[in-house]
Amino acid sequence: MKPYILGIESSCDDTSAAVLCENRIVSNVIASQAVHAAYGGVVPELASRAHQQNIIPVVDMALKQAGIDKKDLSAVAFTRGPGLLGSLLVGVSFAKAFALGLKIPLIEVDHLQAHILSHFIQNEEGTRTLPQFPLLCLTVSGGHTQIVLLRDFFDMEILGKTIDDAAGETLDKAAKILGLPYPGGPVIDKLAKTGNPHALHFAEAHLPGYDFSFSGLKTSFLYTLQKLVQTDADFVAHNLNDICASIQEAVVHSLTSKLERAARDLHIKNIAVAGGVSANSALRNRLTELANKHRWTLHLPELRFTTDNAAMIAIVGYQKYLSGNFASQSDIAYTRQKNQ
Ligand code: KG4
Ligand code: ZN
Repeated sequence: MKPYILGIESSCDDTSAAVLCENRIVSNVIASQAVHAAYGGVVPELASRAHQQNIIPVVDMALKQAGIDKKDLSAVAFTRGPGLLGSLLVGVSFAKAFALGLKIPLIEVDHLQAHILSHFIQNEEGTRTLPQFPLLCLTVSGGHTQIVLLRDFFDMEILGKTIDDAAGETLDKAAKILGLPYPGGPVIDKLAKTGNPHALHFAEAHLPGYDFSFSGLKTSFLYTLQKLVQTDADFVAHNLNDICASIQEAVVHSLTSKLERAARDLHIKNIAVAGGVSANSALRNRLTELANKHRWTLHLPELRFTTDNAAMIAIVGYQKYLSGNFASQSDIAYTRQKNQ
């Protein structure tokens, strides 16, 4: 019988449960928490409470949509970290109890590895071409920005990462300065579509190697706007689309120039992008241009797998299930990234 793996994701503000049959997705339910919008960012205590309310209905729905009973499951995979502790605890405790009750293996999953390995989820029709190794992946989320070399599923090396803010965080903070709603990344993406990306210039960091830095860009963004508003109080309102396009361009340029350099230095042609910011249309367009230029085999994730989802947890669960790499009831959540 083919194994069914249940994935549970609760690291930040999305409660998600998904079922895979082997590597193929059969359900993926995500309950996003609207409660944080009023605060301009995720409020950890509110996130934990919402996970608590959502977890059982979300798992129930994932099983229903998959058309299976909980007794048909072969293993339960859960996000162990990194993330918000109170949020993680809800998923970790639920997964432990569920696996114990069903007497099936429990599998722990690292959230960042899962974003990357989401590329190995087969779609409903079984038509996706899955990536080959070695694979170079740009992981860009709200909390992390990394260039990772994958030699195999669990043979990952972080070649570079941000030394301060993450790419998503930078866009979210820029949006906040502009008075736009949280999360700002998708709003900037939308407004930037009709803006001029070269209207304004913001100072980008140029670190050696493959590391990133975005805090200087954020400061440059703030000071540039403050100066322009001094001479024209309505500058932001009148130039919103150009401002969004310009800050987005600076982030996309920083990300893609490093990735391009890493791909060239390592002679790698299999390139992927993962995480919430990989939904960004300008980033996807730029990567497509680079793929044509350098003859990369580019893997752009389906939009449903860009932001946090449990299907990516379940695919890591499936790979670990195959090798019998199970977790213990005494494994505890971690909030910061482990060394891979
Ligand atoms: O991976 P993710 O869902 O959560 C973390 O693990 O952090 O990423 C969330 C981030 C947020 O910063 C959000 O603004 C950004 O992804 N994001 C986008 C877009 N969609 C989501 N940024 C730019 N353009 C988008 N279309
Ligand atoms: Zn994430």
